[in-house]
Amino acid sequence: MGVIMLTSAAGAPGVTSTALALALLWPGDTVLIDADGHPSQAVLAGYLQGTDGAGRGVTALAGSQRGRSVEPVDLLSHCLPLSTDTQHQRLFLPGMPRSGAGQLLVGAFELILETLHAVSDAGIQVVIDAGRFGADGPPAGLVGLTSTVIVLTRTSLRALAALRLHLPVISQRAGSAGLGLVLVGEGQPYTAAEISGQFGVPVLGRLVDDPPAAAVLSDGADAPRGFTRGRYARSLRDLVDRLVDERRSLEPEGAR
Ligand SMILES: Nc1ncnc2c1ncn2[C@@H]1O[C@H](COP(=O)(O)OP(=O)(O)O)[C@@H](O)[C@H]1O
Ligand SMILES: [Mg+2]
Repeated sequence: MGVIMLTSAAGAPGVTSTALALALLWPGDTVLIDADGHPSQAVLAGYLQGTDGAGRGVTALAGSQRGRSVEPVDLLSHCLPLSTDTQHQRLFLPGMPRSGAGQLLVGAFELILETLHAVSDAGIQVVIDAGRFGADGPPAGLVGLTSTVIVLTRTSLRALAALRLHLPVISQRAGSAGLGLVLVGEGQPYTAAEISGQFGVPVLGRLVDDPPAAAVLSDGADAPRGFTRGRYARSLRDLVDRLVDERRSLEPEGAR
């Protein structure tokens, strides 16, 4: 199963909220991995409403290795549940517990790469929140596992100027992974056609710009009336459908 990575060029267009939405809405078991090199504990403090990671997370998991291989069951036991969904398991692996330790993050992911691979091969959809791409990008091994890299961006000139600066590096590092844009607030003012034409990268999704609805995911805020049927939630479901369709089109005939 292909790993999906979400990132951004600059600013805070909604990478974490959108990664979380994919993990919650995907039609199957999921694990959301916090691989943001600028740690913020955004999911624990936001959507999970101040839940204590209780020592769980990527660095603790890597630290528990002690010369033996980390098994998928170890990885899953280091995760926290994202929802009470009884049909599918939706898990979250917290990221860096402190700031300024980029090398620690790279080292930790190196130790668990094989495990992530095995989790993905077992049919669990892995979604990676890579945060802002930055100068070095997320750990190279992690990008190597990824089959789709999604770059979130708003559609203002300011957002697109930053995208222009960073997209070449993101594209180069993404290597053979599929690269696509997800626009937040399409048409404010630039449209999907203008942006994909300008950058030569396909637009995989258009998320409605709706701060109160997005705060449900980013901050664990109370859902506004009609949230589930509303335009923001619908735009997220459309993105999931598009990604699932892309995945199916890449599978060999026999696997369908
Ligand atoms: N589609 C959206 N429309 C409006 N606001 C959004 C949207 N997605 C995210 N946000 C808001 O933007 C802020 C940053 O979101 P977050 O997901 O943490 O972004 P990032 O991970 O890119 O820093 C939060 O206040 C969140 O509620
Ligand atoms: Mg984030």
